[in-house]
Amino acid sequence: MYQAAILIASDQGYAGTREDACTPYLKELLKEQGYEVVDCRILPDEQQQLEKAMKDICDNIKPQLLLTSGGTGLSPRDCMPEATVAIAQRMVPGIAEAMRAYSMQFTKRAMFSRAVAATRKQTLIINLPGSPKAVKECMEAIIEELPHALGIMM
Ligand code: MTE
Repeated sequence: MYQAAILIASDQGYAGTREDACTPYLKELLKEQGYEVVDCRILPDEQQQLEKAMKDICDNIKPQLLLTSGGTGLSPRDCMPEATVAIAQRMVPGIAEAMRAYSMQFTKRAMFSRAVAATRKQTLIINLPGSPKAVKECMEAIIEELPHALGIMM
């Protein structure tokens, strides 16, 4: 059974002024797909804090999969891709390319997500946009193929 972690970047979610609907959705989906969800965190859109959390998850918790949601767009505080690149060892551009390509059928605004995917040690990190709708659509694009990627990484 693969282990997975979830990291949400959201100023409003962190402050408690907006409910985080992405974590419950991702938890449910991952469980359904046979993953064990071992860590869930929510942080503000602060690059240093996001980097620190991702390092801690990859280096100490060591799940095979880390899904992040939020902070991938063009607003000044969006910094999840930068945080991911900063702690990444290898980039996996095809995953984000596939999510964006698949998402264009739902909204052309998919082009505004700067999401990246990368590996650090034994963990595959995948950025997802912040809205629950976008999370659902992006996961639909990749979920079936993930076990193959995780299998190769072991
Ligand atoms: N991708 C899908 N599949 N569906 C969506 O509705 N929304 C887009 C894009 N990707 C969207 C999507 C929009 S409007 C934005 S601004 C970017 O994701 C970035 O979102 P984020 O800043 O919440 O990460």
